[in-house]
Amino acid sequence: MEFRSARGAVLQLLRTVAPADLPALIEWMRTTRDFDEFTQDNNDIMLKNIAEDLRNCLPLDTMLSSEHLSLRKIEQQPEPTVHVDAFLYDEDFIDSLCEEGKMSRNYCMVCGSHQTAPLGFISHSFSLVELKFIYHHVLPDLSGKVLVDVGSRLGTVLYGGYLYSSALQLYGVELNGDFCQLQEMVIKKYQFTDRVKVLHADICTQGSLLQNADVIIMNNVFEYFLDEAEQARAWECISHNVRKQGSLLVTVPSLEDSLSRLQINIQLSSWVEEVTLNYDVYPEKHIDREALEQIHLYKIL
Ligand SMILES: C[S@@+](CC[C@H](N)C(=O)[O-])C[C@H]1O[C@@H](n2cnc3c(N)ncnc32)[C@H](O)[C@@H]1O
Repeated sequence: MEFRSARGAVLQLLRTVAPADLPALIEWMRTTRDFDEFTQDNNDIMLKNIAEDLRNCLPLDTMLSSEHLSLRKIEQQPEPTVHVDAFLYDEDFIDSLCEEGKMSRNYCMVCGSHQTAPLGFISHSFSLVELKFIYHHVLPDLSGKVLVDVGSRLGTVLYGGYLYSSALQLYGVELNGDFCQLQEMVIKKYQFTDRVKVLHADICTQGSLLQNADVIIMNNVFEYFLDEAEQARAWECISHNVRKQGSLLVTVPSLEDSLSRLQINIQLSSWVEEVTLNYDVYPEKHIDREALEQIHLYKIL
């Protein structure tokens, strides 16, 4: 059906609705997320435009010179490893950069130059697929809910939440001021200001935000950015403040993984209950299932 006839059919349908029910129906049409499946493409395109804007502002490795510790930790990986931001560079994009000779997937096992064995890739952002998995398949309807992304970096979780969920407020807390400025630029340009706010702060100073949040997202927040004593302190603060019963915590990797590397005593069984996720929602072969399997959901007890 073409646009004119479709619009005519919708108006015709509205004329048949009982007058007493019409306001409720129109309110539902204005606010529902039931139409998301029809508008998804636009949201994907908007996120891809944001990624392009950010690529134009950042170096290829998407790391800032101010990130000393993270740069050092990547260098210290057992296998030669590079940072490739999964939100900015999807697999097809990486392939085209490799063809142009601007990036390599391999390194020479003898001299370390980028020629023969697979390089390790690390991403400090969620990819578009991971974001859609979280908002469409991990989290429930977020109407009226407050979400906090701990360590919001490029802001991907916030933009994804704006476009793919009806969360009332999306807060990003980020330690690095340069990344906060980038997020502000995107939020303003794409007019997300009504529901998205970024705070330039250490999460440990944001106790009341954490206490009131309904959903907290933690994507590998501390491991590459803080030394072990600071990571332990930050996790103490998270476990102390994320206590609202029934609130949800999404982590990468699992809490067990993150905490087992640290000298810390947090009793997981009295704090959270893990919710089993279905990682088989995307049957397409090119989906990185291993990356999805790193995503864990917990309910606060
Ligand atoms: C791996 S990135 C996560 C990016 C983003 N949440 C995503 O999923 O796309 C982690 C970010 O956390 C920030 N960070 C580390 N420790 C922090 C802290 N104590 N408070 C706030 N941000 C922190 C780092 O600067 C880094 O940008």
